Amino acid sequence: MYSPNTPSSLDANLPRHIAIVMDGNGRWAKARGLERLKGHYEGAEALKRTIQAAVELGIQYLTVYAFSTENWHRPEEEVKGLMVLLRHHLETGLDELIEKNIQLKFIGFYDRIEPDLKKSIDKAVNKTAHNTGLVLCIAFNYGARAEIVEAARQVSEKVKKGELILEDLNEKIFAEHFLTQGLPDPDLFIRTSGVYRLSNYLLWQMAYTEMIFLDTQWPDFKKEDLINAISEYQQRERRFGKISA
Ligand code: FPP
Repeated sequence: MYSPNTPSSLDANLPRHIAIVMDGNGRWAKARGLERLKGHYEGAEALKRTIQAAVELGIQYLTVYAFSTENWHRPEEEVKGLMVLLRHHLETGLDELIEKNIQLKFIGFYDRIEPDLKKSIDKAVNKTAHNTGLVLCIAFNYGARAEIVEAARQVSEKVKKGELILEDLNEKIFAEHFLTQGLPDPDLFIRTSGVYRLSNYLLWQMAYTEMIFLDTQWPDFKKEDLINAISEYQQRERRFGKISA
């Protein structure tokens, strides 16, 4: 999507959907003799900068991994801190999301989320549901394996009830049962902090996503890093299993 703020060098072939693993908050804090939570606070500031950059560049979908189904195994204080941080930003940032025409979505499981946080999530999602600008998708208590198993369970249930027949099952029907239903697959994946793995993130959806790994710790991530990643993406040839033209 063209935006008047997109640098002209990036105009053509912008990735429609960018997915990010915002990694390195803990190491960023440790390197400065700070508590891990301080790294997450700075990580949230980096996220705000990145959202603004995505809006300015005309990106249509931005999905960020804020809390995984495995992150529950972290110390209780850190888990609680991340929940409080999310709630704080949802409550203090909602007006800005509305003003910037951003549509907020959540992908993740609600089962272990405290009622107060769930209420803030629902409020922000509902109040931005009709916005037509950037779709900001927060993956929170998200895990791709759990998502796939849940989709299989829902599809099986429909087959059992006769609402679907086994022979009709295909990738499209299966994907309609994912938490990401309605979102296009990511074109570009970025992971910060010099770690080269997917960590149970969008495993199905990223079958043909271009991947970029950066050494930068997430709290240091800037608009320039996003622009550089997009430029690198634009130099890649996406073949989707085919051969060059
Ligand atoms: C990974 O870094 C980061 C997380 C598990 C949390 C990401 C959360 C934020 C960026 C804050 C987002 C805020 C809101 C409001 C959604 P890590 O802790 O694993 O870092 P490490 O690998 O250096 O320990």
